[in-house]
Amino acid sequence: MMRVIETRAALQTWSDAERAGGRRIGLVPTMGALHAGHLSLVEEARLSADLVVVSIFVNPTQFNDAKDFEGYPRVMEDDLAACRNAGVDVVWTPQVEELYPEGASTWVDVAGLSEPLCGGNRPGHFRGVTTIVSKLFLAAKPHVAVFGQKDFQQLAVIRRMTRDLGFDVEVVGGATVRESDGLALSSRNVHLGPVAREQALRISESLAIAERMFASGERSTASILEAVRKKLSEATQATIDYAELRDPSELELVGDEVEGPTLLAIALQFTADADGLGADVRLIDNRVLGSAAT
Ligand code: PAJ
Repeated sequence: MMRVIETRAALQTWSDAERAGGRRIGLVPTMGALHAGHLSLVEEARLSADLVVVSIFVNPTQFNDAKDFEGYPRVMEDDLAACRNAGVDVVWTPQVEELYPEGASTWVDVAGLSEPLCGGNRPGHFRGVTTIVSKLFLAAKPHVAVFGQKDFQQLAVIRRMTRDLGFDVEVVGGATVRESDGLALSSRNVHLGPVAREQALRISESLAIAERMFASGERSTASILEAVRKKLSEATQATIDYAELRDPSELELVGDEVEGPTLLAIALQFTADADGLGADVRLIDNRVLGSAAT
């Protein structure tokens, strides 16, 4: 039987009891609107935990835009059904007032790693993520927590935070789940109009082009990025937010030549089309060139 727990105190009590009984707890943090990508993380957690907790909390502090926060899909009944089907043991549904008590002024901020890429045009975003993930860790007391590699920088920032603060949590990365045509699953995909939905395929296509170039020995950063940008520019309804090659551990820009495995990270910003179909949607995706495909 799946349990739905609302308060932090109740979750801590549950977690303490299970830990005392020798059970390993796995945590999958989410903001709800669950899709097969989220559920694959549940399966991943199950591999190294006896009990899986999914947290569903639309975290206000990681949104830069109040409209984006308000418009974020909230479909709790569907999410609970999806968790039940996936064999989740506990769903935790905290309230904003509990996690951010009146006057809350404490932040967890990972310098450096949270500054490039998505940190560049979403100021404060990662500070919101690392602060809430700290609170989730402290409440659920998991042995292991699973995050998607689709949000590569988020995973890197959380790994660094976990190491730096000494959280006793093993952070695991889960492979990116894609539609059959290659588009990475995202709760934002539903906001794409039909033209944008088709054009969004240029993202996974450009990742594949870069991987092919790398595999056949191309090492010029400029050549790889030129091919990627050319493919992305075919998405006429979108602007390129970034398309960058960085080293996968420190996220520093690579020099003129790529050497070992290299992160190609892409963000495209789609705008609603002329007929007013779809909404403004930002999509991200990535691939580590020279490593197993995700
Ligand atoms: P959310 O966007 O709901 O994503 C929850 C988890 O699902 C993240 O770890 C994300 O990387 C993963 N995920 C998203 N799309 C995926 C896909 N196609 N394949 C595999 N995994 C995927 O990321 C967040 O929420 C928040 O920032 C959070 C970590 C919960 C903190 O608020």
